[in-house]
Amino acid sequence: MNLVLMGLPGAGKGTQAEKIVEKYNIPHISTGDMFRAAMNEGTELGLKAKSFMDKGELVPDEVTIGIVRERLSKDDCQNGFLLDGFPRTVAQAEALEAMLASMDKKIDYVINVVVDKDILMERLTGRRICKNCGATYHLVFNPPKVEGVCDRCGGELYQRADDNSETVQNRLEVNMKQTKPLLDFYESKGYLRNINGQQDIEKVFADIDELLGGLH
Ligand code: AP5
Ligand code: ZN
Repeated sequence: MNLVLMGLPGAGKGTQAEKIVEKYNIPHISTGDMFRAAMNEGTELGLKAKSFMDKGELVPDEVTIGIVRERLSKDDCQNGFLLDGFPRTVAQAEALEAMLASMDKKIDYVINVVVDKDILMERLTGRRICKNCGATYHLVFNPPKVEGVCDRCGGELYQRADDNSETVQNRLEVNMKQTKPLLDFYESKGYLRNINGQQDIEKVFADIDELLGGLH
């Protein structure tokens, strides 16, 4: 099962990815998470990524493609993977096609989680994440049982540095510009499947699950 999860910032990619990888037992490859991990470790990659992420800009293609190539070559990706937030440009999509072809693999589905852009600002500014396990919450739409504490592991919840309203605005603009040609690219290959992301979290997952059930 080789999957790509697409959607504008805040569409629910991370939220659905957690559920997909748990049920289908494939690795979750999020370029955003990889950059944030590198930032926390203070590596050269992290410093480079931070200068773009803080402004809501995309990290340059050659950097992003490089980390994905390295990750996909690992053993745990041999029986499938879920890419979350990659590709985000046509150049990245073309690089991914070439990488997979060289490994004798292809994408099964590109799952595009569709949400109206007016809703995304509220989703992103209200998001909270567990410092310890990375679980995602929302102050209104998916609150933890105890304020500021992760239901799953008891970890402390925090707000992402790029979830302030100014940076969110730029992230949305940057991503909207890139999305249309990317959707056209995958539509033309026959991989694209649109999922309505404006439903309850569980209902969105049920729709994805129904789609993936057909792959077995
Ligand atoms: P990344 O980390 O990928 O962020 P993003 O694309 O902006 O997406 P988010 O993680 O913000 O949103 P999501 O869709 O995962 O939503 P979530 O499930 O959390 O990228 C960050 C940065 O890294 C980029 O700006 C760029 O700089 C760089 N980068 C990453 N990949 C790159 C690439 N390929 N090329 C270049 N640069 C790259 O949900 C959001 C909130 O809504 C949560 O609070 C959640 O609880 C809530 N929610 C979710 N679903 C629902 C629902 N159905 N109903 C109500 N609320 C919901
Ligand atoms: Zn946690």
